[in-house]
Amino acid sequence: MARKAIVTGVGHYAPPKRVTNADLEKMVDTNDEWIVSRTGIRERRALDPELGCSYMAARATEMIMKDTGLDPAEIDLIIFATVTPDTVFPSASCRLQAEIGASNAWCFDLSGACSGFVYALDTGARYIESGRYKKVLVIGADKMTSILDMKDRNTCILFGDAAGAVLLEPGEEDEEYGVIDAVLRSDGNGGEHLYMMGGGSLHPATHETVEKKMHYIYQDGRTVFKFAVTKMADISAEILERNQLTGKDVKFFIPHQANLRIIDAAARRMGLDESQVVVNIDRYGNTTAATIPLALSEVYHDDKLQKGDNIVIAAFGAGFTWGGLLLRWAI
Ligand code: UT7
Repeated sequence: MARKAIVTGVGHYAPPKRVTNADLEKMVDTNDEWIVSRTGIRERRALDPELGCSYMAARATEMIMKDTGLDPAEIDLIIFATVTPDTVFPSASCRLQAEIGASNAWCFDLSGACSGFVYALDTGARYIESGRYKKVLVIGADKMTSILDMKDRNTCILFGDAAGAVLLEPGEEDEEYGVIDAVLRSDGNGGEHLYMMGGGSLHPATHETVEKKMHYIYQDGRTVFKFAVTKMADISAEILERNQLTGKDVKFFIPHQANLRIIDAAARRMGLDESQVVVNIDRYGNTTAATIPLALSEVYHDDKLQKGDNIVIAAFGAGFTWGGLLLRWAI
């Protein structure tokens, strides 16, 4: 049997600057009660405007280096899930490579929006399982403040900046730890409900695109909510059923943190109680590709994980994209 890809290190970075609901009350017509009851968010983080997304990824990777003694020159591949790379090109992954000195790696960015990390984790696992590589660094990071219209109350209250990183390596032969299974989906028909139109080849930057605020995120929240609540719950149930597991077999459910009501619905469907569900949306908001590795890293560094624990990951985001993944903790 092929060697599974196990997680041997996990790290995260959230910028120190906090933006509370009270801060946002001063900027748009909103209030703490509305934000908390509709989303579960109390505060989020904002990166220094002078810095790019790869800065946060480098700090998250340094946490892994500190924990595990990882020599960056040993990394074979960097997969960087993000929708807010520092520049369209060079990629955020190449920038990260240069910053951390991962001189022997090849690198690419993966655009899967809020599902980016789930896509990237499964992609990285396939490269390990095939026997091709020994060390794959998987990043989920987004600087959402770079694409937020701080005058749009529909979106500016939801998102924040952060990064998470995971190191994948081959497990022992015939052992069933690591990335066990994944179900990944996309539906391009959902594109019209959550997007950023400006800055790509369809609408390159012009005075007009900037005037029309096309370089900001747009979301039809109600429609996205309906899809997200169903698809997240469906995919979480499916990943359990495919692996003959029930909610009782799950140590932690780590869902994408877009809305506490979506998280609760998926957890109910899986038959989980509160203690099994990892929630940090109150402190960070929606950090897009970073939510899941950030939450995983916090749980790990809080000493809550033991070898053999089943972790179910699920995400839903722009595209539409969604996915569920079963991870058995190996360290
Ligand atoms: O991560 C990627 C995937 N994204 C998601 O999964 C997000 C999915 N969507 C959601 O989480 C929710 O739809 C939101 C949190 C974005 C919005 O919550 P909602 O319960 O769907 O609110 P709504 O959009 O239906 O708006 C209800 C009312 C509206 O007023 P009217 O039309 O009823 O008078 C909005 O104008 O709330 C108003 N509203 C606000 N009020 C205070 C919208 N934003 C705000 C705000 N503060 N920030």
